[in-house]
Amino acid sequence: RTNKIIAIDGYSSCGKSTLAKALAKELHFVYIDSGAMYRAVTLYFIRNGIPITDTEKVTQALAVIHIDFHNENGRTVILLNGEDVSEEIRQMYVSDYVSEVSAVKAVRCAMVAQQQQLGQRRNIVMDGRDIGTTVFPDADLKIFMTADPKVRAERRYLELKNKGENITLEEVFENLAHRDYIDTTREESPLVRAEDAIVLDNTDLNEEEQLQFVIDRL
Ligand code: C5P
Repeated sequence: RTNKIIAIDGYSSCGKSTLAKALAKELHFVYIDSGAMYRAVTLYFIRNGIPITDTEKVTQALAVIHIDFHNENGRTVILLNGEDVSEEIRQMYVSDYVSEVSAVKAVRCAMVAQQQQLGQRRNIVMDGRDIGTTVFPDADLKIFMTADPKVRAERRYLELKNKGENITLEEVFENLAHRDYIDTTREESPLVRAEDAIVLDNTDLNEEEQLQFVIDRL
């Protein structure tokens, strides 16, 4: 491999995507949001009433799900079988179910294969839960992000409120705790810090300081 790969993993709502986007912009790398892919699969399962316990239906669905990233005036949109689902996948009803879907082995196999393909021959920053451990164990730099759970919930709450979502801070806190629990305890590639990942606790760091932290370690 001659291209560069930066892997950013960590808990829910730690600001992984904000940092990854800033980093990609600074370095002229391509940013890939692996969580958006799991969210798109989840949306497909919800819309089509596919129970995650039905292995046959899950396998059939995965064979016809096509996920693409596409750049639109500097904004990255995610396409699920050609439809822009960028907004829809951020809704709470998707967030509430995405970790259950992401724990399914067949789902992970399909997504990991696609992510590895996206990382061929291009310099990329990819964020998620298992990028440094499973998707790209040979990444050039691995960052493991964490922050105070209350601070994370407040940040996400404000973000969703600003988008007009009708939710409470408690609901957001519960959702993050729920996802972190499933993500860290699942059997298939659980969220865990890769041995060679650098820990970045951003509870008290602004975006510029976080970017500098990573740049200093390149
Ligand atoms: O990154 P984001 O919070 O949008 O991811 C949504 C969910 O997708 C996570 O809570 C996790 O369950 C799942 N996920 C995963 N592996 C990844 C990225 C996301 O299991 N690499």
